[in-house]
Amino acid sequence: MKPEVVVLSRLGPPEVMEALKASYQLHCLWEASDRKAALMAASSARGLVTTGSLGADAALIDALPALEVISINGVGLDAVDLPAAKARGIAVGYTPGVLTEGVADMAVALILAASRKLVQGDRFVRNGTWASGEKLALGWSIRGKVVGFLGFGRIGREVARLLSVFGISALYHEPEALEGVAADYCSDLTTMAEASDVVVVCCAGGAATRNLVDASVLRALGPKGLLVNIARGSVVCEPDLIAALQAGHLGGAALDVFADEPQVPAALQVMENVVLTPHIASATAETRLAMGRLVVENLAAYFSGKPLLTPAPMDGL
Ligand code: DGY
Repeated sequence: MKPEVVVLSRLGPPEVMEALKASYQLHCLWEASDRKAALMAASSARGLVTTGSLGADAALIDALPALEVISINGVGLDAVDLPAAKARGIAVGYTPGVLTEGVADMAVALILAASRKLVQGDRFVRNGTWASGEKLALGWSIRGKVVGFLGFGRIGREVARLLSVFGISALYHEPEALEGVAADYCSDLTTMAEASDVVVVCCAGGAATRNLVDASVLRALGPKGLLVNIARGSVVCEPDLIAALQAGHLGGAALDVFADEPQVPAALQVMENVVLTPHIASATAETRLAMGRLVVENLAAYFSGKPLLTPAPMDGL
């Protein structure tokens, strides 16, 4: 008998779902019209596959009494109730490492899209404004600028490495200074924002980072500054961000993540100096295949009695 596994969202490319189907009896929750009934039918499920954004809260964990392993397709752990999982002795795996490059590439794309007005320029051509004889306002160059990283883990460091070809100077803010990194430490986030032309949010979500980027940080980044967020919407106080953009206290924003996905405030949608993408920083076929394979490998390790390849950090919970 194949072990039963609940899957919260279709993982792509197709080979990932095929690999899951080959080894497990799946309960595909996105196909269920009645989620509660689908969860009741999955009461013998021993595995759960989720994503970084969907996570697994205490209610979901409680609804699956036979649950032994959670395999997360993503690196964000903020939406998973790790203490609840730990209390039940549930193993938790995630996908660090394999999405670093894809997400970092997206951060660079967002910086270039905003600074070179790519999305605005595309609209300008399509809506006939260019043909009517108008000129798009000048963009600005990232070359030689100062980029501040809120969070300087794998992803932040890879973004800094990519941006080094543009001759940027890198600053970072973390709770503690890090050993052996090629960037200057700022113990105070507002001070870092003040010294930066661009701030890239690369830290984990969760209680420790909620609303860290608030009105004072945005004001310090300033009327020419750009805020980029490829981490979690919860790190940025969205009402403060909207107010700063409306008042001209902040130059622009390029955002892949939002406080209440998939809802994006209408105020952001009408701003020309804002680039919006639908939480797709890891969404390339290559990255999603690598992530999906790791999700499958973590489950396979668990069900063959081996340690997970990439267990989520549960110490200190
Ligand atoms: C992650 O890895 O957590 C991404 O945000 C995808 O959800």
